[in-house]
Amino acid sequence: MNYLSINDIDSLSTWVKEAILLKKQSKKFKALGSDKTIGLLFFNNSLRTRLSTQKAAMNLGMEVIVMNFGSEGWALEYADGTVMDQGTSEHIKEAAQVISQYCDIIAIRAFAGLKDKTLDEAEEVLNGFKTYASVPIVNMESSVGHPLQALTDAITLEEHNFKNNPKIVLSWAPHPRALPHAVANSFIQMMQKQNAEFVITHPKGYELDPNITKDAKIEYNQEKALENADFVYVKNWSSYTDYGQIKSQDTTWQMTLKKLGKAKFMHCLPVRRNVVVADDVLDSAQSLVIEQANNRTYAAQLVLKKILESNEN
Ligand code: CP
Repeated sequence: MNYLSINDIDSLSTWVKEAILLKKQSKKFKALGSDKTIGLLFFNNSLRTRLSTQKAAMNLGMEVIVMNFGSEGWALEYADGTVMDQGTSEHIKEAAQVISQYCDIIAIRAFAGLKDKTLDEAEEVLNGFKTYASVPIVNMESSVGHPLQALTDAITLEEHNFKNNPKIVLSWAPHPRALPHAVANSFIQMMQKQNAEFVITHPKGYELDPNITKDAKIEYNQEKALENADFVYVKNWSSYTDYGQIKSQDTTWQMTLKKLGKAKFMHCLPVRRNVVVADDVLDSAQSLVIEQANNRTYAAQLVLKKILESNEN
């Protein structure tokens, strides 16, 4: 079993319930991972993913190896038949097989480069490991998805939702740097598995991949989108159409307490204060961001537990 996308979840509601139970008894399955090793390979920076996945593995009794592959590993080649006389030093074929001898699970973070849509969508790092590794692979945020974050967000929504059909808004926010689409993509895919009134709001030009948004409601008027919202998930992403470009820095899209109304505020973190969201939102009781970060451990722990159990069968 791999965990590469939110579509690897067979029943979201069951997984969320299991994760909430696991949170109450996080050390109960410590024997499951004894004598097992997970390798966490980071091609990009991280705080939450690195520490929460490590903690999740430790809660299951696993040993953890962490490698900052982007800065410390040999530059990998992914293409078949390449004459490797340029910048790459090692082929994914050898690297993935070698790491598979040291680890029982390999987890990978490799962001989109945001220069070449076709290359990013090919997910060459994640798919390279999937093809050549002989152990299960976990996506710790790839070019197009962040399924551990989306599972976390589903857990947090469940813990705070007291309605049958809550209104949940995904709102774009300004940011000085071009950011990937992965968090928004996986959040949308997760929302498509929920009973909720879901609205995406962003300025024109920030439409996400239509293969992901499908028939989700898109409202270009942020104020209108936010009316009577129960949860507001804020995230920046760069243009998908003009791939990786920043089309707007419109500061009026920043989330404020006034705009939030009575809704709960969600963000995956890290977040730029007073650019993406005002201080008073993050510092208010309406903010769920610290709880979201806490739930990263139990989302990761559930995924690792399921992988370990599937390998026992
Ligand atoms: N939300 C999240 O993935 O945080 P990190 O980038 O710090 O891991």
